Amino acid sequence: MSGIATIRTDTRDAPITMLTAADAPTAKIIEESGIDVILVGDSLGNTLLGYDSTIPVTQDEMESHTAAVVRGTETVPVVADVPFLSYGADRAESVRNCGRFIKEAGADAVKLESGPHTVSLTDRLTDMGIPVMAHVGTRPQHARQAGGLGQTGGSESEADAIVSLAEAHEAAGAFAVVVEHVPDDVGRAVTEALSVPTIGIGAGPATDGQVLVLADVLGLSESVPPFAEQFGEVRREMRAAIEGYQDAVTRGDFPRE
Ligand code: KIV
Ligand code: NA
Repeated sequence: MSGIATIRTDTRDAPITMLTAADAPTAKIIEESGIDVILVGDSLGNTLLGYDSTIPVTQDEMESHTAAVVRGTETVPVVADVPFLSYGADRAESVRNCGRFIKEAGADAVKLESGPHTVSLTDRLTDMGIPVMAHVGTRPQHARQAGGLGQTGGSESEADAIVSLAEAHEAAGAFAVVVEHVPDDVGRAVTEALSVPTIGIGAGPATDGQVLVLADVLGLSESVPPFAEQFGEVRREMRAAIEGYQDAVTRGDFPRE
């Protein structure tokens, strides 16, 4: 059997909730809030590390953040996103890099942006006891080739290719499939075609679960993708606190005697 023992697969009562995290204290808050799964997404390249895409994010950076999230949590499953070029160039290297997330960083599973080349890799990893989450639709590691981060799956042939790719990864042992930025009916089609759960981001309401990038949810991102929803005003809160400190010291109100 593939899959993480602790991931909830019964979605009749409520969809699966997944949220990204990259540090220990934030991951603890997410766990305490009852989120089902934490993804250490390579989107941390944009949201935390100051890169303008996920392409430059390194294996070491992802391992370091994954380990921090694992240290900050107790029971919530942690999925590590495998960064660009950590997989795909060479089979043995791909397996070792994915394995490091489990063995060294303590993750429960890895996520691979899916393509024809990740089908047999998924098969191999799951044979070895490494649970794999697939990722179809818009794939940021392919942004240069795709010409950006726009929606995919808009034509019938694109939609069919997305469904087929998801099916191939389920057959290879993936325990769940992220579906990113596709028309709602493609999110629904992938969900209906699979028996493992789909987790959507910009894929409409029909998927078995939802995932968003934490910085977007918090209101910390400078720009938010069209499909994301902001549930807080953390950027404003941070600015108010920092300016409050600056003002207090400048005025001589802090520290007091
Ligand atoms: O890196 C990330 O945050 C992701 C999610 C958007 C699924 O891959
Ligand atoms: Na990602």
